[in-house]
Amino acid sequence: MHIRRLGTTIEVRAPAKINLFLEILGRRPDGYHELETLLTAVTLYDTLSFTPAPSGEISLSCRWAAAQAGDEISTGKENLVWRAAELLRQRAGVSIGADIELIKRIPAAAGLGGASSDAAATLVAANLAWQLNWPRERLSELAAELGSDVPFFLTRGAALARGRGERLESLPVPKLHIVLVRPPVGLSTPAVYRASRPADRPVGAAPLVAALARGDAARAAGCLVNGLEPAAAGLTPWIDRLRQEFDRQGVLGQQMSGSGSSYFGLCRHARHARRVASRLRSRSVGTVFAVTTAVA
Ligand code: C5P
Repeated sequence: MHIRRLGTTIEVRAPAKINLFLEILGRRPDGYHELETLLTAVTLYDTLSFTPAPSGEISLSCRWAAAQAGDEISTGKENLVWRAAELLRQRAGVSIGADIELIKRIPAAAGLGGASSDAAATLVAANLAWQLNWPRERLSELAAELGSDVPFFLTRGAALARGRGERLESLPVPKLHIVLVRPPVGLSTPAVYRASRPADRPVGAAPLVAALARGDAARAAGCLVNGLEPAAAGLTPWIDRLRQEFDRQGVLGQQMSGSGSSYFGLCRHARHARRVASRLRSRSVGTVFAVTTAVA
């Protein structure tokens, strides 16, 4: 997360994430799933500008960045940004409000954590703009109330997450070259989890963690896991289609991110990623991004 101060406005660049590993360990009594997942931030960002407003109201405006069309974004009370600002305002007993502007680049319903990242950016920006001085741990508790992935976005780089996704251990990741595709169809996270099954014999993330610590992208690519992929592939033919498309590109490894529908391939180097991205763009598979892991 990159933070800039422009007068009284706090501007935050909120990154997308991908899951290099996601194993479902079981269903929990609260309806969530027990997970082991490895998330890494990538260099695709929304931009959030947060300005304190004496009116006491919280107002939100959203638009897609130029050259990137997307579905209409709600700016009301169901938007996680609005909820994050309001939750912090109530808990901190703040009487001033905020004008929040959000420029979206991260596709929605894609398993890229866009809304969660925007919510985390809101907490960080509000904490600064309202001069609350809350420590990171306290913001992290609020973040977990807003969504399972939100605490991750208060950290930097990569992390291994357990529980619902909120128990985090930071990890080193090398700079990986990644091509990411959001097909024309999105997926609903609850629907994908509902259709999923816990792993019979879960594999651990340890081999992937070791490969990443050594900076061995090829070995890491051989350790990718996403236990939600079969469920997502049952809901849209785009998952199988993207697997076939990436198969033809000679990538080191490939899989769906989070609960989908976006899909990524790990490439050998920057030039390889540019070549793969350009070939996939000519295949009309959706929106294609060439990114890297956001190493701090
Ligand atoms: O926590 P969040 O609101 O982002 O989760 C969205 C949905 O994803 C939940 O309502 C649940 O259906 C599913 N989910 C889950 N297990 C998790 C995380 C999310 O079942 N660990």
